[in-house]
Amino acid sequence: MTTRLPDFPWDSLADHAAAARAHPGGVVDLSIGTPVDPVPDVIQRALGAVADQPGYPTTHGTPALREAAVGALARRHGVEGLDPVAVLPTIGSKELVAWLPTLLGLGPGDVVAIPALSYPTYEVGATLAGATPVRLADGEPPPAGTRLVWLNSPANPTGRVQSADALARAVAEAREVGAVVASDECYLALPWTAEPVSVLRPEVRGDSLDGVLAVHSLSKTSCLAGYRAGFVTGDPALVRSLLEVRKHAGMIVPRPVQEAMTAALTDDAHVAEQRERYRARRAVLLPALTAAGFTVEHSEAGLYLWSTRGEDAWETVAWLAERGVLAAPGTFYGPTGDRHVRIALTATDDRVATAAARLTR
Ligand SMILES: Cc1ncc(COP(=O)(O)O)c(C=O)c1O
Repeated sequence: MTTRLPDFPWDSLADHAAAARAHPGGVVDLSIGTPVDPVPDVIQRALGAVADQPGYPTTHGTPALREAAVGALARRHGVEGLDPVAVLPTIGSKELVAWLPTLLGLGPGDVVAIPALSYPTYEVGATLAGATPVRLADGEPPPAGTRLVWLNSPANPTGRVQSADALARAVAEAREVGAVVASDECYLALPWTAEPVSVLRPEVRGDSLDGVLAVHSLSKTSCLAGYRAGFVTGDPALVRSLLEVRKHAGMIVPRPVQEAMTAALTDDAHVAEQRERYRARRAVLLPALTAAGFTVEHSEAGLYLWSTRGEDAWETVAWLAERGVLAAPGTFYGPTGDRHVRIALTATDDRVATAAARLTR
């Protein structure tokens, strides 16, 4: 393979993780956004009900799954008028993020525009395709030669929510250079102090879905990271072309997981319950960080508190590790994150309370 992938960033946290684990009360690991709460019963039951599945599942997913995705987007996010045919299940959203540039046929000479601070897999996906990732500052238009623009609101790692106007501008600018827009919306159902909007809403994408994809994940809102469950939808022609390649490539969501996804997308009660769990954890951690001298920026939605003590990110990581709390340095997400750490809300209530107590002691 000729591509040069970045070192896996979490490996570089090993020493700090060891320091945090050595705390007499054990580590509170807030460095990764992995769900810790139980998979809701309604989903577990659906998974178990289709255990006897000797045959191959379809890459396109069951009609019931595609309809459930369209229904969830309408009920939860006010997205109307989607055709279920334009829904394509994915094996979690990370694989789609990593392979989208390749699936779209991008290669050397093509630019993939990503936010200055962003989920590392956008860069990885561009690199896997042999394309060139370019980090855009806020409001910076994509350069000529851009074939794919990643948007992410609410954002990882900053928790920043972009207005419908700002997103509409980004979509228009991408269309101007002939780029596809992929909006990673995995935190859309976790708003705190701002209301995020989907790229699929007409005030963002205009009258047509041309060139627009929305990438959704069930990992965070339905505690399904372990099942690997996501979907992509939007421009029907683009989704059709992704389906064609994915059929050949064996990128198929297992049939029991398809059933679990259908159940998850049909039930909103567990989403509301999970949202309240995270809201409560945020309400404990945010004031504790502030009391400990941190400034928390953005963090208007999603699972992270984007925090700074006005020093180098690694110093803050070390300061927290001494207190048995593990956080991710902002540099994992881009060079401009060098004075921030990302603190996740994904620990049990008990561990979050422990972290808050250690911070304010
Ligand atoms: C912005 C963003 N996109 C995508 C993912 C991948 O999620 P999954 O593969 O679990 O759907 C994550 C996971 O943390 C994320 O933060």
